[in-house]
Amino acid sequence: MLENLKAISAAAKDAIAAACDEAAIENLRVQYLGKKGELTAILKQMGSLSAEERPKMGALVNEAKQELEELIAIKRNELKAKAQDEKLKAETIDITMPAKEIKPGKLHPLNTVLDDMINIFQSMGFDVVDGPEVETDYYNFQCLNVPEDHPARDMQDTFYLAENLLLRTQTSAAQIRTMETMKPPIRVICPGRVFRADEVDATHSPVFHQIEGLVVDKGITMCDLKGVLEQFAHEIYGSDTKVKFRPSFFPFTEPSVEVDVTCSECGGKGCRVCKGDGWIEILGAGMVHPNVLRSCGIDPDEYSGFAFGIGLDRLTTTRYKISDIRLLFENDKRFLDQF
Ligand code: PHE
Repeated sequence: MLENLKAISAAAKDAIAAACDEAAIENLRVQYLGKKGELTAILKQMGSLSAEERPKMGALVNEAKQELEELIAIKRNELKAKAQDEKLKAETIDITMPAKEIKPGKLHPLNTVLDDMINIFQSMGFDVVDGPEVETDYYNFQCLNVPEDHPARDMQDTFYLAENLLLRTQTSAAQIRTMETMKPPIRVICPGRVFRADEVDATHSPVFHQIEGLVVDKGITMCDLKGVLEQFAHEIYGSDTKVKFRPSFFPFTEPSVEVDVTCSECGGKGCRVCKGDGWIEILGAGMVHPNVLRSCGIDPDEYSGFAFGIGLDRLTTTRYKISDIRLLFENDKRFLDQF
């Protein structure tokens, strides 16, 4: 039995010394010290020994067991450290590799043009106000002199959310909200998103943007309207741009105009951008209708004003020669990276 113990011990020591990973060490532990291990088997044979030999042999086996346990623990730590070392070596960072480029975002072209417009109007003394995109029928139509059965409603195909609730079709609702909360003199612009149930094509989108303007004070005339809008057109398109005021109709302004500027692409000769016309329509405007002033509690005999609504999308597509309005809303990085 003693011989056997020595042989097992020696074999185990060799095997432990030769083990090359943690799994091998665990296998050896089971093989020698496990419940069915070789050393345990010897302990089980002790019953056949005499009462005198038994404690001696027992002590020897325990000693051998302890020795193997220690060797296994040492080897295990060694292997662990080695594995860690190898892992660290394999994971070293090559600081000479080129870094990943971080691309900072930038302003959407619509916002670049909007910022320019805000600057221009602020320099003329306008404040910027905000209005809700979900509006009531009252603010979007009725209070703007468009009663329920007015044919002008047909010009703006509307998304209704409920009987009296809709997605605003124009930023003009902001005129009313402003006059309800501010006293004249009023000079504000209200930029924002508007919605119409239009078919999508290269020049139409169900979502687009307007900048509403409103001025109310004593003695405001059509001259002020023309001066402000001409100044605006010159700052946006350059001082040699011609501005044309055409008579038009809006229920909430009287008289009403539409404003065209000479095409910035061809200078008015006629080209693809202006469809051969030489002119591009950029906004609607007019003197605030007395009914509108009155419904906001402003006396039209004492005060007058003008309002305008500029299409931001058209201004952006013509400035950057963008051929399709849909590109503004698709958020394709390849397109946006060009600005
Ligand atoms: N709200 C009008 C439109 O969307 C534009 C406009 C605004 C006209 C202000 C006159 C005054 O067509």
